[in-house]
Amino acid sequence: MSSSATMSTGTDYSDSPLLWKYPLHNLNMQDGSGSINVGVLGATGTVGQRFITLLADHPWFVLHALGASPRSAGKTYSAAVNWKQANHIPAVARDLIVKECIPEHFKDCAVVFSGLDADVAGEIEEAFRAADLAVFSNAKNYRRDPLVPLIVPYVNPSHLSILPQQQLSHSPPLTKGFIVTNANCSTTGCVIPLSALEKAFGPIESLLVTTMQAISGAGYPGVPALDIMDNVIPFISGEEEKMEWEMLKILGGISKADDGSRAFDMHATHPLRVSASCNRVPVIDGHTECVSIRFAQRPPPSPQQVREALVGFTCEAQTLGCPSAPRHVVSVHEEPDRPQPRLDRYYQNGAGVSVGRIRQCQVLDIKFVVLSNNVSIGAATSSIVNAELAILKGVIQC
Ligand SMILES: NC(=O)c1ccc[n+]([C@@H]2O[C@H](COP(=O)([O-])OP(=O)(O)OC[C@H]3O[C@@H](n4cnc5c(N)ncnc54)[C@H](OP(=O)(O)O)[C@@H]3O)[C@@H](O)[C@H]2O)c1
Repeated sequence: MSSSATMSTGTDYSDSPLLWKYPLHNLNMQDGSGSINVGVLGATGTVGQRFITLLADHPWFVLHALGASPRSAGKTYSAAVNWKQANHIPAVARDLIVKECIPEHFKDCAVVFSGLDADVAGEIEEAFRAADLAVFSNAKNYRRDPLVPLIVPYVNPSHLSILPQQQLSHSPPLTKGFIVTNANCSTTGCVIPLSALEKAFGPIESLLVTTMQAISGAGYPGVPALDIMDNVIPFISGEEEKMEWEMLKILGGISKADDGSRAFDMHATHPLRVSASCNRVPVIDGHTECVSIRFAQRPPPSPQQVREALVGFTCEAQTLGCPSAPRHVVSVHEEPDRPQPRLDRYYQNGAGVSVGRIRQCQVLDIKFVVLSNNVSIGAATSSIVNAELAILKGVIQC
């Protein structure tokens, strides 16, 4: 095993005070069926619509409450939403009445997913946590909080072990409520292959990444057509800073002090330097990223070894049996002109990532291209698999 043993992958959960504390009354572990009430905040938005689509057929989760702005509250979901998905509005959601985002309306939900706009997510998500509700957020507001785990489900589910500390730090201490966030959509696509490579070859010490990000990443209506058609915009506000910081929290481990308190180590045992350049391109869904990396290990792995490590990558979400985890996390392409957003963004229903053009880098060690679906694994799917992991690990009471 590489030095990744000191990092996030493969961390032992056995000392988590919440582990298996709660029996899974609402889950039939034999056939995997269940009835766990869930709510969606921001249900009418781009990410919210993907939540609705994915949750409509979920084997455990039942859509119980939907929330959006006061503009939408009081209307049926079908009247409130400007539906932009290729499928029809699922029957289970169509006639639900959209609520205002106040905890009282969601008190019967064991899990609350949030696709809220960052301008309002901070206050609303905190109110839900304070009401002892389990919140899985897509917004940026709490990603940097030292007690909030920033989880990419195939990479660092071990970071759930910070949650008891988060709950205790609340006044009064919480028994069920917490906030878990997932990463920025461009961070997510990049850290999945990186974590597979760190697991196989040990720490990465330098990373250059250039993104070509889809328009849907900006929500609806997003970037005006007159700005993005026939064009590339070489700036996405705050995006490069988010990528450079979030990767350290996600790929880093958790340190434990003598008094038992935990802290995210930000990859401190093997410092990682990240430089990101982010661009908006005229693609509807799917972020493409060109990545170059240098490993600490000398000599570095060959392109063929990198290929094999990505093909063989498996994660805890798969071994534990999360229903929304993909069968294969990474699809490795041999064709010289793949991955492409139009062809590859629905790999594993958007839950996997596609990697291609793995080759030697003349400046660092290895370079490749990764494509991920920003609205699925970059947002809603990550939250859903994070919640599935929290349930299977006994962190959520249901
Ligand atoms: N799009 C992506 O690819 C992506 C990926 C990762 C993370 N994210 C993050 O996910 C979040 C949602 O993004 P999005 O692209 O889905 O945005 P969006 O399309 O603009 O949707 C925003 C949602 O927030 C609701 N909202 C706005 N003001 C509100 C208020 N005052 N009270 C309650 N609800 C309110 C909207 O409801 P109404 O319809 O009623 O206005 C809508 O449901 C953002 O924080 C974003 O940064 C997005």
